[in-house]
Amino acid sequence: MRKKIVAANWKMNLTLNEGAELVNEIFKGLPVLNEEKKVVIAPPYLHIVQTGEQLAGMIDVCLGAQNCHSETSGAYTGEVSAAMLKSAGVEYVILGHSERREYFKESDATVAKKVNQALVNEMQVIFCCGEPLEVRDAGTQNDYVESQVKAGLFHLSDEQLKNVVIAYEPIWAIGTGRVASTEQAQDMHAHIRGVIRAQYGDEAAGDMSILYGGSCKPTNAAELFSCADVDGGLIGGASLKAAEFLDIIEAMAAL
Ligand code: PGA
Repeated sequence: MRKKIVAANWKMNLTLNEGAELVNEIFKGLPVLNEEKKVVIAPPYLHIVQTGEQLAGMIDVCLGAQNCHSETSGAYTGEVSAAMLKSAGVEYVILGHSERREYFKESDATVAKKVNQALVNEMQVIFCCGEPLEVRDAGTQNDYVESQVKAGLFHLSDEQLKNVVIAYEPIWAIGTGRVASTEQAQDMHAHIRGVIRAQYGDEAAGDMSILYGGSCKPTNAAELFSCADVDGGLIGGASLKAAEFLDIIEAMAAL
């Protein structure tokens, strides 16, 4: 069954107190969600235990992380392993975000190793892909995203793939206020689903949740989520304000 998901990526924002307050505000306005609809909150590492305690016992709001390390453990000063995240109650790990790929030089191969770490530790992966502006302008975005999906996921078994969610985030739309049109989003999401279908078959493709990310806001969420192949959103800026994030959750709840 294909899940609908709205995931908050707080990135490097909010102090502990601000994070706790934001979660409390979200709780106050949270609509009732049915079983196939989930909210994920991915705060910075430092918040994870605190946010996890706030979310304890909630079924439809899950704890997420924004990253994990590609190795199991060892001398990697400043890093956090997938097993540590699992031990703190993390259910979803965002991997391959374009900011990680660009600023931290994460290659496709590194992202694939991180995917393995998250899956071995029984967490769900939110696998990010998306093209930069020059690729979109050249019209080669489908090939670009396809190669990211293949490099990051195609080594997985059918069973492992069931624990993966894909987030399409065109880099030119992240934090820029420029949003993909519904047609651009739907076209790419259908393409990604086709790529999954060709490798894993109809059922796996039908069950794959594909989220849209990149300046998703209350003003455009309902329209984006109404696309046949858009199954929710990965939300950056608008997830830092309870009222905006709740409006986006409402747009998913109404589906
Ligand atoms: P944005 O970020 O909503 O601020 O564009 C999305 C993301 O990077 O996950």
